[in-house]
Amino acid sequence: MAKRSIKDVALDGRRVLIRVDFNVPIKNGAITDDTRIRASLPTIQYALDHGAAPVILCSHLGRPKGKPDPEFSLKPVAARLSDLLGRRVVFAEDCIGEPARTAVGQSGRGAVVLLENLRFHPEEEKNDPKFAAALASLADVYVNDAFGSAHRAHASTEGIVRHVKESAAGLLMIAEIEHLGRVLERPDRPFVAVLGGAKVSDKLEVIENLIPRVDALLIGGAMAYTFFKSRGLPVGASLVEDQLVDAAREIETRAKARSLRVELPADHVVAPASALKGEKVASEVLAVGDPAIGDRAGLDIGPKTIGTFRGVIAGAKTVVWNGPMGVFEIDAFAKGTIEVAKAVAAINGTSVIGGGDSIAAVAKAGVTDRITHISTGGGASLEFLAGRELPGVAALPDKP
Ligand code: 3PG
Repeated sequence: MAKRSIKDVALDGRRVLIRVDFNVPIKNGAITDDTRIRASLPTIQYALDHGAAPVILCSHLGRPKGKPDPEFSLKPVAARLSDLLGRRVVFAEDCIGEPARTAVGQSGRGAVVLLENLRFHPEEEKNDPKFAAALASLADVYVNDAFGSAHRAHASTEGIVRHVKESAAGLLMIAEIEHLGRVLERPDRPFVAVLGGAKVSDKLEVIENLIPRVDALLIGGAMAYTFFKSRGLPVGASLVEDQLVDAAREIETRAKARSLRVELPADHVVAPASALKGEKVASEVLAVGDPAIGDRAGLDIGPKTIGTFRGVIAGAKTVVWNGPMGVFEIDAFAKGTIEVAKAVAAINGTSVIGGGDSIAAVAKAGVTDRITHISTGGGASLEFLAGRELPGVAALPDKP
């Protein structure tokens, strides 16, 4: 069921509180990636264009453990947002109480107010009803555009809906639900999932939910080694989750029962694990299963695997990709991930990616613009793909 959108709600002359996910990386006071801020601009601009008086923005930043901490202040975000919007952004030193009330009270049509970090109050993460009511009292309309936080049942993402007159999803939230929902419910086929990253445990539920839906599953990255171990192959010092070896075997059995094509790497780039500490070391391409791996670790997929993965991806009409194929932050082990990024970007169909690493990989490969949808959610997109209900989405009313 589609959610009621900001476009279904009258905004003119009303106080519109938008929950955004401005949880952006900040180093020494400077924002190093403003993708999430940019992603909410259409919703903010829509509210401004439709007479919101004012637009009030709230977000968390980092994990400040329920107390004010200048390191996690949203102040730098207010400055960047002001640059991006080309208008002044009023910053309220607290998200509830006097500072918030005053900032909102003094701002009218066309004004933008950004409230200080919601997580400076422990009640936010506890989904405390009084805190939710205090936030709600600032607004006439609540809009949730924070897809990246929709897997959290917090006061600003879930509880607040019970305290406002009207709620709706923002444009980013709608786009995320539509794109991710479409690949799960009605993908153009062939539908290929490419999963990588360090741990099977992070993706176990996603794999289980995708097995009955996809036409092929490509598995790379360190998580492949738990599968190799389940097959009794030598893995050297590669990362393995021993407690998931049985689960990996079970996944392969289930996939086989469905005649699903599951591709694990056939070759890999191996090197001493000290490479991960930045040491310059010699690496070598070996067939997976070759005992010559010794006590070295597999750090990228090899050329044969790249060729196979490329071929499967090229034939797809829908690709979902989450997680790198190797330690792509180190150039010597980046090739597999970069080639997969290029292949995903080149398909004649729909490509959806999620997870900070895959996003960084498409950026490194220079193909960001050619991806159909880049999810702003890390944990949220994984939970969505795992088929879980996201509390922040579930709380929003359905479209009338
Ligand atoms: C994220 O970055 O995944 C979201 O902003 C949620 O942050 P959290 O994991 O601290 O709840």
